[in-house]
This record gives sequence, structure tokens and C-alpha cells, in this order.
Amino acid sequence: MPKGSEIRRLFLKFFEDRGHRVIPSSSLIPHGDPTLLLTTAGMVQLKPFFMEQEEPPARRLASVQKCFRTTDIESVGDPSHLTFFEMLGNFSIGDYFKKEAIELAWELVTRDFGVDISRLWTTVYLDDDEAFGLWRDMIGVPENRIIRLGETDNFWGPAGDSGPCGPCSEIHYDFGEEAGCGEPECGPACECGRFCEIWNLVFIQFYQDKDGHRTLLPHPSIDTGMGLERITTVLQGKSSVYQTDIFSPLLDRAAQLFGKSYGDDESDDRSLRVVTEHGRAIPFLIADGVLPSNVGRGYVLRRLLRRAALFGRRLGRRTFLVDLAEATIEHMSSVYPELNARSRFVLDVIESEEKRFDETLSAGINILDEIIASKDSRVRNVIPGDKAFKLYDTYGFPIELTREVASSRGLGVDMEGFEKEMERQRERALASHRFVIGKTETIEAGFPATVFTGYSELARETAVTGILTDSISAERVGQGEQAGIVLETTPFYAEMGGQVGDTGKISGAGSVFIVTNTIKLDAATSLHQGYVASGSFSGGDRVIAEVDLERRADITRNHTATHLLQFALRRVLGEHVQQRGSLVAPDRLRFDFSHLSPLTAEQLKQVQNIVNHEIRANHPVYDAQMPYRDALASGAIALFDEKYGETVRVLSVGRPPISVELCGGTHVGLTGEIGLFQILSETSIGAGLRRIEAATGRSAAMVAGEGYNTLFTLSRILETNPENLVEGARKLLDSRDEQASRIVALEKELALKGVPSLLQQAKVIDDIKLLAARVENVPPANLPDLVDALRSELGSAIIVLGTVSEGKPFFVASVTPDLVKQGHSAGNIVRKVAQATGGGGGGKPGMAQGGGTDATKLERALERVPELISHKKA
Ligand code: SER
Repeated sequence: MPKGSEIRRLFLKFFEDRGHRVIPSSSLIPHGDPTLLLTTAGMVQLKPFFMEQEEPPARRLASVQKCFRTTDIESVGDPSHLTFFEMLGNFSIGDYFKKEAIELAWELVTRDFGVDISRLWTTVYLDDDEAFGLWRDMIGVPENRIIRLGETDNFWGPAGDSGPCGPCSEIHYDFGEEAGCGEPECGPACECGRFCEIWNLVFIQFYQDKDGHRTLLPHPSIDTGMGLERITTVLQGKSSVYQTDIFSPLLDRAAQLFGKSYGDDESDDRSLRVVTEHGRAIPFLIADGVLPSNVGRGYVLRRLLRRAALFGRRLGRRTFLVDLAEATIEHMSSVYPELNARSRFVLDVIESEEKRFDETLSAGINILDEIIASKDSRVRNVIPGDKAFKLYDTYGFPIELTREVASSRGLGVDMEGFEKEMERQRERALASHRFVIGKTETIEAGFPATVFTGYSELARETAVTGILTDSISAERVGQGEQAGIVLETTPFYAEMGGQVGDTGKISGAGSVFIVTNTIKLDAATSLHQGYVASGSFSGGDRVIAEVDLERRADITRNHTATHLLQFALRRVLGEHVQQRGSLVAPDRLRFDFSHLSPLTAEQLKQVQNIVNHEIRANHPVYDAQMPYRDALASGAIALFDEKYGETVRVLSVGRPPISVELCGGTHVGLTGEIGLFQILSETSIGAGLRRIEAATGRSAAMVAGEGYNTLFTLSRILETNPENLVEGARKLLDSRDEQASRIVALEKELALKGVPSLLQQAKVIDDIKLLAARVENVPPANLPDLVDALRSELGSAIIVLGTVSEGKPFFVASVTPDLVKQGHSAGNIVRKVAQATGGGGGGKPGMAQGGGTDATKLERALERVPELISHKKA
């Protein structure tokens, strides 16, 4: 019985021996393929080879690829469906085709893997007589075991919205009639569980574009895929992937964590399978750079985490995913070392997301229960769509979970209503992005495109090609009016990619237009917003456009520094640091990135030092236009969620470069121009997201200068020098603390000095010793101590002390236990006394405190005490 790891090895060895180059698995985030959410097959990283856009490293390739498919998430929990899996594949890039592919697959399965031939069936695409003939004549498969199937089963469509594709042919394993449904038409396409597809051979012949049109590729190719977990199940003679040695250590770990034993209870078993499968997939996603969010890949990860959490709760635990991730890292790092390399980060992300969701889930389940229990007559068998939407929108409760929780309580969810609400929200979001100038109307653009020359020049003569006033196109704009001007050519940078728009002026014959901002009207046209300071402007005017030089220089310094900052952060914190947003303004830069914990003072210092070091190294900065794919191949950092055009601008710093990024912004020619880089703050802006604000050039010098001035002034005040300031400040605080405790002790002593004279003020009223007196210079906090001292002198007594602190009266009363027994109460006394000064108080019968507002009434209030006692009112 071969182990999973042995099967991986045998597979690659088999193809290596037959002239294939073994290539490593690519990331779960498809590289350079924004059309595809996650890597779904071994062929994904080979798309450019099949399409002859790139030269493959060899014509014959083989790999074990990490794959993730989202289509089956809801089915995970049954014995076979998986989200994350490993795919064994051999590929021919315009080398061999159907005949060899079929021969190789059969040889490996029946000879090396030793699968019993009588268990095997094959399928071909409807009209693929060639493949049918090969199986029958060359291999000898009986005709009744070669099944013709249609598009859904036997045509591999493009991965993503376009790409290579073609008909396929599959090998299926038959678990035997007894494992199936028994229907006469049961065959490889039947879902009853009797058949298991073990290998898919795709005959790549076409390229399919976004609209579904197919064209023949110049050279037919081969893409095959064999799910490792499935073939292992078959070869280990099991009936479920969870029984193989790929899953069993993880399943055992899960069972142990939840204190269950697998096989005891079907519903628990299902939950165990869910947490095991998701618990294994999650660390792989995070290690490849996916972070929880509400969109795209991040949402897939979040859904998985949350679905696992929900099933974990059914098994009786609220947190467990970190344990399962640890087990996965331990079990799979030898094959996928990235798990181990990023384990700290992976575990931190899981821990914080799991905790957050635990809170959401508790809140969400309560709300859901409230909805169910409410008198809302609409909730009979279904949760109304608007309520489900509110749970999603306000509490981040994924709709899939609402459905699962509802169904566990025997209810459905009005999905149509939910979708309607979602649609409305999408419309609202779109409306808020529509371009609006001043007034609320949106504008019809339709102006000619603008040529941008601002990478290399900051002033130029050009022509006015459009004018916008009040969101409508105008012929002319006169003095004092607000407007937007479109130019034929412009050196003004329009706000984009985090970099703010340029300001400056546009001047014609005797006319000046002050540009207060430049924005993109649409992808091709820039709009210069501002007002006419003098004269007027009309379409067709010749003008000179001049950017505000100093401000642009400040912005430019900040932009290049942002790239250096990203470089430094990756070096100090690790490669998981990814840009999540940025602002490049004249006075500062802001950089948002993925990282879990606050940066330590030491890390911040390192980051700042690295950036300043690279500034002083005075690296040249280069820009180049190139095809998107070439840019990624050169290692450029792109934002994974950003859509890029065919041709991109690549910005690199230094040679060899220390930083290569896709970027449309403006940059310095030499890093030395940045002058100085100074971090201003580092904060959290959400789970797993940090923000650094920093300044460069003039601003940084100012900040640093002011900082030094402050230090200098402070050290003068503390009578030391800047180097010893920290120590000086610490000493000062220490001596202050020490003095404070000495003062407290002295005050106590002082208060006790007053005891003898206070004792003389004691009277006897109705056989009760009573002391009601005002004391001076005793902080309220010391009053109880003073009362204690008096009581030990007086014995059985009632004591009421009053004092004024910070302008307000305070009181403490004490009644000894014997007098409490007689019905006197310190609480009542204090309340009455404090009330007489406009306040209140209370406490126990033996000891109580209170305060008032009017200090002038303190004496009068104390004078009332004897009366209170003799009337036993207190
Ligand atoms: N692309 C095919 C599949 O995933 C073969 O690798 O099934």
C-alpha cells in the first residue's frame, strides 16, 4: 500500500524517466492572471506556453500542483469533495499528443500503480473517434467500457475567462456494482459513488476568448490532471479521502481536539471532515498571500474560516483552527516548505480572524434567534431577505452561514429578497463612484484624449480642447468662474494610483487659470479643475500649462520613497508584506500593508534606516514600458487585485534593482533627491492591516528639525543634554513618584497629630459618645485612617468627620458595632449630612462616605449630627 508521498514521487519519476522536466508547484494565487481567482489546475501556470506567448523551459513537463476550487465548498463534508487538493499532471507543449498521452497514462496506472484493469473504464468527448479508437485498438479497452460524454464532463474549458481548452478523455475507477445505485444507466458519469474519475487527459487544441469564440492553437498540446487524494484513496483501497494517510493524521488530530472518535456518529463525522478539510486548506491560502477580506480571494478564505468555525461549534469548540493549522504545517511542510517558512504569520492570521469571527458569530446567532423568535409574521418558514442582508451588511455574517444556521433550525432564507438587497447596494456603490463635479449631476465626457508629458517636463505650450462648467460642456469660461479645462497635451499628473493630482496654472494671452487639482475624467482624458483668475478661456485657445514645481517635487520624492518603504518593510518583516493602499501627497506619504502585529520600535528604526541608507546610495530610478507578462516575469510587484492593461509601466530603483513595481506615478531620477525619510506614525487600520505615515525632503527635515529643537529645549529644562534626556526624564518621574508616596505618608502622620485635639471635641448625647468635627488639610483618601485612629481611642462611638478638598465638602462616618445594633447607621448619617451640602453618599452601617457641592454649608451640616442621633433618625 503506497503512501501518499510515495505516489507523488512515483508519478514524477515516471515522467522524468520519459523525458519530462519536473517543475515546482506555483502559488495558489495565479501569477499574472487577474482573470482567475485561484489556481484551479496544474495547467494554470502553463497557459502562456500553450498559447505560445512564452518559451517553455522544456516541451515535456510534469508537476504536483497546489490547487483550490471554490465550486465545491458547500459539498465539503461528504467523503470526497475538497477545496484544496494536489494535482499530479504531465504536459506536452506542442510535443506529443493523444496517442502518447493515453499510452503513458495507461502504463502508469496499470503497471507502476498496479491498478486492476478490470476496474477501469474510460470516457471520451462525444465525437472524438480518434480517442475512442486509441482506447479500443491500441490499449484494448472493451467498447462497452468507453463512454462518450458531452461538454460538461468531457470538455475542459478555459481556466479564467479565456485561455487554452479542448476535449478530454478520462480514466475512471469502478468500486464495483455493490458500491453503486444499481440503476441500469449507471456509468462513469453517475454521481452515486460507484465510479471515481482518477485521471483527466485534456487534448488542448483551442484558444477560447472572453466571448466564448474558439480558434485553433498552432500546436496541439496535452494537459493532464490526476487528483493526488483520489488516486491515493484508490491505491490504498479506501472508500474516502479522509481514510488515506494524506488526511488521517489531520483527522485524528481534529477528533482528539474535539474529544470525538471518528465513526461514532455520522453528523459528528461530517463536522470533523469539514473542519479537517478547511483546517488544511486555510494555512495553504494564507502562506501564499491570501488574507481574510470581504472580496475576491480574501472572501474565499474568510468563508472557509467561518464555515469551519461553525462546524467546530457543533462539535463543541469555538477555537481550534490554530491547532489544525499547526498539524497541517507539521504534516505537509516537507513537501511545501513555504508553510513552515511563514508559519508564524499564518498562525497569527488564523488566530485573530478566528477570534473576530467568534465574536461576530455569537452576535449574529443571537440576532438570528431574535429574528426567528420575533413577532415578525413574515418569519414562518423563511428568514426574510432584508434581514439576511442586514446580518451580512451590518454584522459581516456571510449569507452561506445564515443559510446553514437557519437550516439547522428548520428554516430557509429568502434568497431572492437577499439578492435584491445586494443589487441595490451595488447600485448605491456605483452611484457613489460616478464622476461628479461640484453639482450633483453626472457628466457626459466625450472629450478628446489627453497626451500626458509630465514624466519628463513640467511646462508646455498646448491647446484647450474642452471646457466644463457646472458639469456641462461650455464654449467659454470667464473671470471668477469655476471650471474644468481639458488640454490636448498636459504635464499635469491626474490623481491616480494613490498619487494626488498636480496643481499650477494655465495661461493664455492675458488670461490665467489657477489649477487646484487634476483628475481623470475617464481612462484617457485629464481634467484640470480650478478657476479663472483673470481674462477668459475658449475652446481652441493656445495656452501654456505650468505645474507647481515645488509641490510636484515634494510629491515625487514621496512616491519614490513609498517604493523604498515597501522594499524595507519586506526586508524587515518578510515577504508577506503586501501593499493594500497608499496616498502620495506633497506633505506626507501613507502606506497601508498586510501585517498582523504593531511594529516594534526596533523594527521601525530598522525600516527607517534602510530607506535612508538607500536614499544616500543615490540609486538611479528607471522606468520602462513593457507587456504585462514580461513585467511580472522580471519580478515586478503588482497589486493582485488591480486590473492592468496589456502594456504596463515598470519602475525600478537601482541596478541591479532593489525594487521593481508596476507604477504610473512620477519619480525622482536619483534616490538622493529624496533627501531624508522620516516615519511619523505606525497604526492599525483593521485586522491584519497596518498603516505607516512618513515624510520626506522638506517635510522630513522640518519634522526632524522640530523634533530636535524640542529635545534641545527639554534637555535645557531638565538641565541635561539631549543624549541623557531619556535617563533624565526617567529620573524625574522616579523622584516624583517617590515624593508622592512620601507626601502621602507625611499627610497621614500630620492627620494623626490632630487626634488629641479632635478627641476633646467629643460629646455625649443620649449616652452615646459622638464626635462630629471639621478637619483641615486631610485629603479625603486619608479620612478613613484618621477615623480608625479616633475610634481606637474613643471605643464605642459615632464619628463624623468633614473636610473640604478642591472646594468641595467630603464626609466620613463611623458607627461602632454595638451602636449599629442599637439601630444607628453610618450610611444614613452620611447621606443626610451630605444632602445638607447639596450632595449624597452612603455605605455600610459601620462605615460610610459621601460628598457634597456647597462647602459653605459644611459646618451647618455637621451641627445637625447630634439632632440626627438623638431623634434616632439615623
Ligand atoms: N486541467 C485539467 C483538470 O484540471 C487537467 O489537468 O482536470
